[in-house]
Amino acid sequence: MKVYIKTYGCQMNERDSENLAAQLKLRGHEIARTEAEADVFVANTCSVREAAEQKAIGKLLRISHKKKNGFPIIGVMGCMSQNRGSEIVKSVPKIDFIAGSRKTPYVADYIEEIAKRRKAGIIPQDPQKGERKKWKHNDAIINIEDDETSHNLIKLHDFSKSQICANISIMQGCAMKCSYCIVPKTRGIERSRPMEDIVNEAEILANSGAKEIQLLGQVVNAYGRGEMPNVQGKSPFVRLLEKINKINGIERIRFVSPHPSFFKEDLIAAYSSLEKICEYAHLPLQSGSDRVLREMRRPYSAEKFIKIAKALKASKEIFSLSTDIIVGYPNETEEDFLKTCEVFKECGFDMAYIFKYSPRMGTVSAELEDNVSEDEKERRNQILLEMLKKQSLDFNERLVNTSQEVLVESKAKRGLGNLMGRTRTHRKVIFKAPEELIGKLVSVKIISAGVSAMDGVLE
Ligand code: 5AD
Ligand code: SF4
Repeated sequence: MKVYIKTYGCQMNERDSENLAAQLKLRGHEIARTEAEADVFVANTCSVREAAEQKAIGKLLRISHKKKNGFPIIGVMGCMSQNRGSEIVKSVPKIDFIAGSRKTPYVADYIEEIAKRRKAGIIPQDPQKGERKKWKHNDAIINIEDDETSHNLIKLHDFSKSQICANISIMQGCAMKCSYCIVPKTRGIERSRPMEDIVNEAEILANSGAKEIQLLGQVVNAYGRGEMPNVQGKSPFVRLLEKINKINGIERIRFVSPHPSFFKEDLIAAYSSLEKICEYAHLPLQSGSDRVLREMRRPYSAEKFIKIAKALKASKEIFSLSTDIIVGYPNETEEDFLKTCEVFKECGFDMAYIFKYSPRMGTVSAELEDNVSEDEKERRNQILLEMLKKQSLDFNERLVNTSQEVLVESKAKRGLGNLMGRTRTHRKVIFKAPEELIGKLVSVKIISAGVSAMDGVLE
């Protein structure tokens, strides 16, 4: 089978798709490079905002209009499957399988099962084309049940893709109760993988050339809580970082997304004691107004957040901070928004994802009136984006004329002979160098800075 996997949403979804691709290859299937050549189309979906679901549905419908004699097989996995379940059949009647977010490791089985049915001639007919048999929904495999162990199975990597910067999913789910967020519903309760399994996976990656490990989890720094003990005041997450820090060949460690509430002293101290942890943190603020934070059920104040941000910045000469912000949460006033702007400036975020609030059915805040107009959400969004541009440029300009350790990731998209790499602060650098340096750490002198990238020369 030639399988095309279309991934929407976050890095955890990207990681799940990679696991599926690796699993399919192990079973002798191919990953299609274009939709047109695929026998199987799988959408790995996101539910965090309504627009993300609509985009996936639109795509699935377009693919299903092209379906002939049962091909391509069409499947959907990930958060939207979990969120909408069998309802998806109503929007996309020709769907073949719907795999919930805890069924990711079984998607390859579903694909093979449907392929077997097709080969046996079990092809649902299309009523729109006036054929005799009705398209049967019960032909679809639908499984969105809970699974207590499936998170332990997301450990395969696709070595045909660059693994210089490799991702490891260390946990699944979220036990927080942020009022606006669908993730606890779609990804389920928090479940952490055993530490040895993760270390083992990191070692395999290191042996195959990975230089950077990024640990992934919805609340990554809550890893192991309630399941594993704190030892000498160190949380399971910090103990895991210590173990990864010891692996030969791994030069850099990052993690997303931590929650401010679990950013305790031991984790801040780890930035100083563990040399491989990069001077970079993605720390979601969501709002700078204490009133809105309370409404959002985010259990920290703006002051507490700023304290963490400042402690991190003080721990190193230069430290990059990135964040998530939601604008236009129900009843967010101009005053609330201005507080967000203040905190945004005070923390000096040089990277940020700014989202316009989108009510999600089944969440607490969906009960509230979505009463900030679309225009106002857009205005607030633009104001923060402008601030971000400036702060990002300021950050990069501070690096001009300095020498930076750069991990070379790939050829650059622009400029013949140019390579692209990143500083420890996760800033992009473009510079001329031979391709053999891809995957290596090099020293680059920064010569000029833009908003999203810097130019440099190899030293
Ligand atoms: N509307 C807008 N943004 C949201 N996020 C989560 N839920 C919503 C929603 N309903 C954002 C948060 C989170 C990021 C992954 O998505 O900022 O950190
Ligand atoms: Fe959603 Fe909050 Fe969990 Fe993040 S911490 S996934 S925003 S519920």
